[in-house]
Amino acid sequence: MNLTLDKQVALVTGASSGLGYACAEALAEAGAWVVINYHSHGEPAEALAAKIRDNGGRAIAVGADVSQEHDVERLFEAAVNAFGAVDVLVANSGLQKDAATAEMTLQDWNTVINVNLTGQFLCARAALRQFQRQGPRPWLSRAHGKIIHMSSVHQLIPWAGHANYAASKGGIDLLMRSIAQEVGEQRIRVNAVAPGAIATAINAENTQGEAGKQLLELIPYGRIGEARDVANAVLWLASDLSDYVHGTTLFIDGGMSLYPGFRGNG
Ligand code: BGC
Repeated sequence: MNLTLDKQVALVTGASSGLGYACAEALAEAGAWVVINYHSHGEPAEALAAKIRDNGGRAIAVGADVSQEHDVERLFEAAVNAFGAVDVLVANSGLQKDAATAEMTLQDWNTVINVNLTGQFLCARAALRQFQRQGPRPWLSRAHGKIIHMSSVHQLIPWAGHANYAASKGGIDLLMRSIAQEVGEQRIRVNAVAPGAIATAINAENTQGEAGKQLLELIPYGRIGEARDVANAVLWLASDLSDYVHGTTLFIDGGMSLYPGFRGNG
């Protein structure tokens, strides 16, 4: 069986840059019709949609704030109006507002939880409703819809100075597994990917130069990840090649979650 997502509709949130952008691009290469959601950066999202269309694919860019119920509903409506259905959700939007816990403002706590966790709930809920409404599409996929949550190694690894972010990702783990337990019998597949350190424009500061060298000490496999490493895993989880994979988090981290600090220690 080949990995194909031909004519499946894939909606990717937070896809104007970084991991979301790479996922949208990869899904389009695999034949999916892509809905590229962005929050504040419409230009790169529109440019990606245009690039996909120039290459013979189908794509639209839609602005929406995933932490807002009405925006999420509008986003799914736009997807269905353009392409008639939604087969794959990649709930990717996320952000960091770092601070020592004693200094963290309630606003920064709420912003991170609202986007990273509530946003994934709202998008998953909208996707489930759409999957149920449209019913099976067996000519496209064995599953009756697929949800892929973007988690992080920090659903497992505590992270000082990032309590809001780690709490949001820990929440995603049980959100994902609870939904998976609930909807499996409807043949809706729900999984997550948990990236480690990935070089994207947003975290260039942490992945290059001295900081990059220090970061490598946390990565047994000895290299910093690329956005495409994550996109490849998302492709597999979206495709029928992973049809029996359900309720799982796939760590894409070069072994960061193996606690490499214990090498020669403990
Ligand atoms: C964060 C990155 C960080 C990585 C490993 C990710 O979830 O977004 O900023 O480098 O975890 O700590």
